[in-house]
Amino acid sequence: MASTHRYPHLILALLLACSGCGEQMVETVHPEPGDVGLDMTPLDVGTDDTDDTDVGPQGDAGGLDAELTPDAAEDVPSDTGSASGPIMIEAQVTWDAWELELRSAPATFALPAAEGILIQDAEGALSLLDDQGFEITLEGEFGAIELGADLGESGSLLAGESGLVGFVEGQLASSPLSEHIDQPVAAMAYGPDADQLWLSTGDGLLLHEDGALYDIAPEDLPTVPARLAHGGRVDGVPSLWVASQSSIYALTGAGGDLSVSAWVEGLAALDLACDADGTVWASVNGDLYRRSTDGEWDWLRLPSPVGELAGRAESGALWIATADGVWRHQDGQFGPVEGTVTGEWLELDTDGTLIGVDDERVWRMGVGEEPLPPPPPTWTEDIQPISEARCVLCHGPGALGADQMYLREQWEERIDEILFVVSNGAMPLPPNPVLDSAMIAQIEGWKAAGFPE
Ligand code: HEC
Repeated sequence: MASTHRYPHLILALLLACSGCGEQMVETVHPEPGDVGLDMTPLDVGTDDTDDTDVGPQGDAGGLDAELTPDAAEDVPSDTGSASGPIMIEAQVTWDAWELELRSAPATFALPAAEGILIQDAEGALSLLDDQGFEITLEGEFGAIELGADLGESGSLLAGESGLVGFVEGQLASSPLSEHIDQPVAAMAYGPDADQLWLSTGDGLLLHEDGALYDIAPEDLPTVPARLAHGGRVDGVPSLWVASQSSIYALTGAGGDLSVSAWVEGLAALDLACDADGTVWASVNGDLYRRSTDGEWDWLRLPSPVGELAGRAESGALWIATADGVWRHQDGQFGPVEGTVTGEWLELDTDGTLIGVDDERVWRMGVGEEPLPPPPPTWTEDIQPISEARCVLCHGPGALGADQMYLREQWEERIDEILFVVSNGAMPLPPNPVLDSAMIAQIEGWKAAGFPE
């Protein structure tokens, strides 16, 4: 039996050097059809719910073939083969979009993470935009980043030119997982419930869970190339959804004991997304396919052809790019979004807002109530702590050889001088470390707001 390389924990997997990786193998797992078996026959994705009862996912299990066989896959109902047509979707609501500028310069990559938004600019520099809108430059050069996954408390994982890069506790570092991965990572998904990290490469599908790395190879189902989305529920359990070639299927359970189910054949998905309801969405041939948590698939047609989707399991919102503008789905309602921002979609944030970029800036777009801009920095909350931590040692009440600079009025009076010396690194003097870019931005913001107490 193949041995499995074990990592103590996901956080460590992101950052710690890997000892003895070379000697060990990655375990290959062939997920079996789920024991329920209900979902195992390719589903009728047509919309006529009367004639597909015998193969419906929650239908009578008696007539179902519990094995995934190539024969089963021939039975594929498709838009051409299905007698019933798609459900025509009309607007039930009109969403009004608001936009917020997050950064007044463009970016090539953005990932909303627990600490803020990770950004890469055209020069390859990585930074973190915090909740207050301040940008902190991050150390390290990792080449172009293509994609990433927010692993919640554990941090974030980025993939790009130089392999996998972990972002943990404010630091970037190459991940030892890279040593096991020869091909670039093309898709990633994270399952918070079981702390599962899924990676799709040119070679196959990998799962990192509980310190082990598995190569996932379901019999007779393609894994390359794949689009991944996590959170669509199979019998109530949030699962990984794979869209590969013309198949869509789910993987449920734990690493060594995964089952494959909810297989549909004949849907070559351009994009795949899950939402907070556990619904799975696929963009196929300009139409939208929806799998509800009861296992029912619907074939939906919007007024204009559907392209890219943006959804995530933490959010009830689904953003839908169509040939004729942006649509959105939430709480069972579809509708166009008015006043959308142009540019490329980068990521959906947990609150259902979209982060995107154009030639000039990085934006956030949402619908509904517009968020209040973050309050400006104040002396008591933001500036005095910097002064106390970094300056009063020499500029405090008993300052010798340096001017007193520890009161709000003193800072206000000498603000330009202060900004000058902290920006060029002349102050503070050792032993105090220089101020990071977020602190300097806070001082600038405090000045711009008129020195609030
Ligand atoms: C280790 C001691 C030390 C620390 C810490 C320190 N300073 Fe100074 N600073 C001095 C001394 C000494 C001078 C005056 C001598 C000089 O000009 O080099 C000075 C001068 C200045 C001046 C006057 C500018 C100038 O060129 O004379 C400003 C403004 C200033 N400090 C701001 C700060 C701020 C803001 C901090 C904290 C972020 C800070 N300093 C931290 C020692 C320190």
